[in-house]
Amino acid sequence: MAKLLVTGGAGFIGSNFVHHVLGTTDDTVTVLDKLSYAGNLASLDGLDERRLRFVRGDITDAELVGELMPEHDAVVHFAAESHNDNSLHDPRPFLDTNIIGTYTLLEAVRRSGVRLHHISTDEVYGDLELDDPQRFTETTPYNPSSPYSSTKAGSDLLVRAWVRSFGVQATISNCSNNYGPFQHVEKFIPRQITNALRGERPKLYGAGANVRDWIHATDHSSAVLTILEKGAIGETYLIGADGEKNNREVVELILALLGQPADAYDSVTDRAGHDLRYAIDSTKLRTELGWEPEFRDFEAGLAATIDWYRDNEAWWAPAKDGVEAFYAAKGQ
Ligand code: NAD
Ligand code: TYD
Repeated sequence: MAKLLVTGGAGFIGSNFVHHVLGTTDDTVTVLDKLSYAGNLASLDGLDERRLRFVRGDITDAELVGELMPEHDAVVHFAAESHNDNSLHDPRPFLDTNIIGTYTLLEAVRRSGVRLHHISTDEVYGDLELDDPQRFTETTPYNPSSPYSSTKAGSDLLVRAWVRSFGVQATISNCSNNYGPFQHVEKFIPRQITNALRGERPKLYGAGANVRDWIHATDHSSAVLTILEKGAIGETYLIGADGEKNNREVVELILALLGQPADAYDSVTDRAGHDLRYAIDSTKLRTELGWEPEFRDFEAGLAATIDWYRDNEAWWAPAKDGVEAFYAAKGQ
């Protein structure tokens, strides 16, 4: 039984991870989350309060982080500014949370000796051509494109440096695009689902040829638990579930699952610097640590995700109009 400190546990993947930990282990969890626009306490509703504590606070607050650290066996660090489009609009919060926040946690684990698992993204590797037979591996050179991915790359490099220079007990994972319940409506899949549910047309950037490698957030969670249990200190593991799809295919699938015509979407202004394709080779995680994904049927996972958004309008509706106004101002 471990005591976990989960940063960003009120966000999309962090809350899915907390649900997974409380549902599949005897561990206890403290969530440290500042409840930015992306955090939502309702994502933790219904969980066993005897095993879950919530602390509202900022990971850049060294005093708070230093107080919490010794009470825990490990930190799982999800907290981040996570949306590329926001990072193009205002990069500063990305530097504060993703760089300074990770630095603050590293200094705290350096002092306390607590184990850290750092959550990162495959976007640190830049993008691939559509016809490139290669996928990202742990040895692919870093080549980030956006303010978001460059600050995540910077945070990964800080972790690596603190392992080597100070002997910090850390592991890193870089995962592909997640889908599932509790994802903010600013992101691609929830935006299109909630548009279609509200009778608005989905919005595809450019021609929709860009490819993402989709993984269910529960599979991301089980991979992180596997790395916490069996991962080697100092190592990086790529997490992916062989889920490559282009954006147009995803929009067409959402429309089909909702019984709407395949062409009932709008093509809108493309994202600046839009990465073409991400694809993960997760052989290391599978062969060295024995992890396998559970959600192999994307259509079934997407259908369940659509059902979740249909059943949980009260969770997403308060954010929807503001998000659409932000996009509309940019022609998206
Ligand atoms: P999210 O934006 O849904 O959630 C981020 C959470 O962090 C929110 O609850 C927010 O309140 C909190 N937070 C932000 N700044 C904070 C601060 N300074 N102090 C404390 N809490 C703060 O993000 P997500 O999609 O769940 O992503 C979680 C992590 O997973 C991020 O590190 C992201 O880079 C990584 N990741 C995401 C994806 C994806 O597809 N979404 C894929 C791979 C990796
Ligand atoms: P997103 O969910 O923002 O994740 P990321 O930028 O981390 O990959 O976007 C996923 C893909 O969907 C990306 O290629 C951009 C595209 N996209 C759209 O086509 N329309 C949209 O409304 C959004 C938000 C994204």
